[in-house]
Amino acid sequence: MSRLVVVSNRVAVPGQSISGGLAVGLQAALQERGGLWFGWSGKSVKEASGAVHEQTEGDIRYVTLDLNKRDVDGYYNGFANRTLWPLLHFRLDLVDYDRATRETYRRVNALFAEKLAPLLREDDVVWIHDYHLIPLGALLRERGIGCRIGFFLHVPMPSADLLQAMPDHLRLFSSLYAYDLVGFQTQRDADRFQSYVRLFGGGQVVDGGLLQAPGGRQFRAAAFPIGIDTAQIERLARAGASKPAVRDLRNSLRDRQLAIGVDRLDYSKGLPERFLGFERYLQRHPDQRGSLTYLQIAPVSRGDVTEYRQLRSQLEQTAGHINGGYAEPDWTPLRYVNQNFAHATLTGFYRAAAVGLVTPLRDGMNLVAKEYVASQDPDDPGVLVLSLLAGAADELKQALLVNPHDLDGVADAIATAATMPLHKRKERWNAMMDHLRANDINQWRQRYLEQLEFG
Ligand code: G6P
Repeated sequence: MSRLVVVSNRVAVPGQSISGGLAVGLQAALQERGGLWFGWSGKSVKEASGAVHEQTEGDIRYVTLDLNKRDVDGYYNGFANRTLWPLLHFRLDLVDYDRATRETYRRVNALFAEKLAPLLREDDVVWIHDYHLIPLGALLRERGIGCRIGFFLHVPMPSADLLQAMPDHLRLFSSLYAYDLVGFQTQRDADRFQSYVRLFGGGQVVDGGLLQAPGGRQFRAAAFPIGIDTAQIERLARAGASKPAVRDLRNSLRDRQLAIGVDRLDYSKGLPERFLGFERYLQRHPDQRGSLTYLQIAPVSRGDVTEYRQLRSQLEQTAGHINGGYAEPDWTPLRYVNQNFAHATLTGFYRAAAVGLVTPLRDGMNLVAKEYVASQDPDDPGVLVLSLLAGAADELKQALLVNPHDLDGVADAIATAATMPLHKRKERWNAMMDHLRANDINQWRQRYLEQLEFG
C-alpha cells in the first residue's frame, strides 16, 4: 500500500486540542491507516527559520512549519479567512479582497510546496485539505511531483455567480485542475463546481464526475460526505458520563432538561439567530419556561479577524439580554461558555442533552451534528434540531430540520424536541445511527483514497 501524505493548514499534533471538523476528521482518518501529516505549526514567529518540526506518534509522523507573523496575517487571517471563508460561506457582504493578501496566500502555498516536495516519494498518495491550500497541488506539479494528488474541500462550494464576484477567481479555482481528484462534502457542492468549470473555467464535463481542463487534462470531481468515528464516539460518550465535568453539569441542572450547542465562535454558525430563536421559544412556549436550560459552548476562533471580534461582543450582549429578561433567582435560561473542552468531555455533555442545537447559516458538513447523535443513550436518545443549510442535513433526514433564519420555526422545533415521546425519539435516532455506522470516517477515507489511487 502506498504511503498516505495528508496536508492541511491545521495539524492536530499530539497533546494539542484544537477545534473544528477538519482536525477531528483527519485525526480519525489517519489513526487507522497511518502516514505523514504536514502543515502549519500554528505558530507565528518574528523570523521563521524555514526549518520543520518533526514528531512521531504511533503510525503517524507529524511535520510542521512555523510561519512569519506577516505571512500569517496575509495568508491565514487575510486571504484565507477574510476573503475565501466568507466567499465560500455565501457571505459576499463580508468578503474583503486585497491583492497583497492574495499574493501572500500564494507565496505561503509555494513555501508549503518547497518544504513538502523533498519529503515525498514517487509512489506516495498526497491528500491536500481545505481552502487554505487550493493552489498547493499545482505548485507541487511545478516542482515535478508526479504522484497521485487529491484535494478535499471541507467547506461549501458556492455557485459560479458567487465565485465570479471575487477578482481573479479563475486563477485560483483553475489551479484545482492540477489534482487527480477534487472531493466535496455534498453532491450539490460537486454540481456547483462542475457548472463553474463549464461557465467560467473553460473546461468540459466528459461524463459524470470526469472533467476536462482547457489544456485537455482530465480529473475527477465528486462528493464524499465526511463522517465521524461512530464506534469511538459511542464509546467515549458512554465512558464520559462518569467524568467529573459531566457529572457536575448534570447535577447543576437539577431536574431540568438540557439543550446544547457546540460551535467555534464563527458567523457561519448562526449563533445570534440561534440565541434569538431560543428567546422566541421562551416567548412562544411560556408553559415550558424553567424546564429547559440551554448551554452554548463557543470556543473563540480567529480572534485577529475583526468580524469575529464583533460577533463575540454581539453574543455577549444578546446572552445578557435574554438572561436579563427571563432568568429566575434559581434558573439561568442560557449558559454561554467560551472555553474549549476535550473531545471526550464534549461527548459526555452531548449525552446529557435532550436537545442538540445545530443551526448554522451555512456549513460544509458539520460534525457536531453527527457526534451529538452518536453520543446519545440508545434507551433515551435526545433530539437533534438541525439547519437545512448544513451539509449534514442531506444525510440526517430524521433530525428536526429548520431554516435558521426562521426564528419561530427554530422556537417551535426546540419545543417539539423537548417534549417528543420516547418511541418517536428512538425511531428517529435509530435511523440516523444506521446511517452514521454505515458511513463512518473509515468508510469516507477508504472511498476517497480508492477513487484517488485507482481512478
Ligand atoms: C473549519 C475549516 C478548517 C479549520 C477549522 C478551524 O472546520 O474547514 O479548515 O481548521 O474550521 O478553524 P481554524 O481557523 O482555527 O483552523
